[in-house]
Amino acid sequence: MSILLVPAPGAEQAAADLAAHLAAPIGRVEARRFPDGESYLRLHDDLAGRDVVVVASLRDPDPQALRLWYLAQTARDLGARQVGLVAPYLPYMRQDKRFQPGEAVTSGTFARFLSQAFDWLVTVDPHLHRLASLSEVYAIPAENVASAPAIARWVATNVPEPVIVGPDSESEQWASDVAGRVGCPFIVLSKRRLGDRSVEISVPEARAYSGRAPVLIDDIISSARTMAVAVRNVRSVFGRAPVCIGVHAVFAPDAMRALREAGAAAVVTCNTLPHESNGIDVMGEVAEAVRARVVSALG
Ligand code: R5P
Repeated sequence: MSILLVPAPGAEQAAADLAAHLAAPIGRVEARRFPDGESYLRLHDDLAGRDVVVVASLRDPDPQALRLWYLAQTARDLGARQVGLVAPYLPYMRQDKRFQPGEAVTSGTFARFLSQAFDWLVTVDPHLHRLASLSEVYAIPAENVASAPAIARWVATNVPEPVIVGPDSESEQWASDVAGRVGCPFIVLSKRRLGDRSVEISVPEARAYSGRAPVLIDDIISSARTMAVAVRNVRSVFGRAPVCIGVHAVFAPDAMRALREAGAAAVVTCNTLPHESNGIDVMGEVAEAVRARVVSALG
């Protein structure tokens, strides 16, 4: 293996976090915009025969996407033996269905785009809801790294006597996995989405868990409306403020404020997207997946 990590613009922190576990060098990427807005990119390393791993931080995917394409093509032009992609947060996973006539089903289109550019993909807990697995939309080997082991380690170390709370039915997969690893109970709330920034959440009877510390876990915190409403309702039912854990800190501009106003005891996220709330390191597991992918691509 001759891995070289190539950070796409904006993914320098993610590449450094990954390099700390992978013991692989980080390449030098020069990126800027021409006055007309077009991208200038230059890879300064010798890529001939290297196993190139592009690392991308895709909180704002549209401006990043074309540059990923250019990086992958340039790495191949320069002789890379393989070009994989590590996107710890995989965007465009929620519009996986045409809800209204004429809507773009972007999860499939984005997957086809990345599948043409890269040999393989490693990501962390993609939002699989109606899709059972990434292979339904990705034509390349796509590895789904679970954040549950890292989250469970954090909860076990930081929260005595927890009860894990999933804010909606989709979060049950993470809530149950983390609770199983910690060895504590979990419950799942019931959510109805009324709009992009409006949800209703109901909390079931929780007397059996009185005395336990509620820990809300969701995969994505975006507008934070889901978490904020769940925090308020959990506080009123449990009589204590929950810790909020998000896998992916997407965080719209006013999201952190919404969580503070709702009265969260703490907000902690995994380092799949850089954010002040990052406190859970999932890059050890990502590094293992990258090693396995590189080896398997070499045949
Ligand atoms: C939705 O199904 C996801 O699991 C999250 O609950 C959702 O994306 C959170 O979004 P927001 O923070 O905007 O409520």
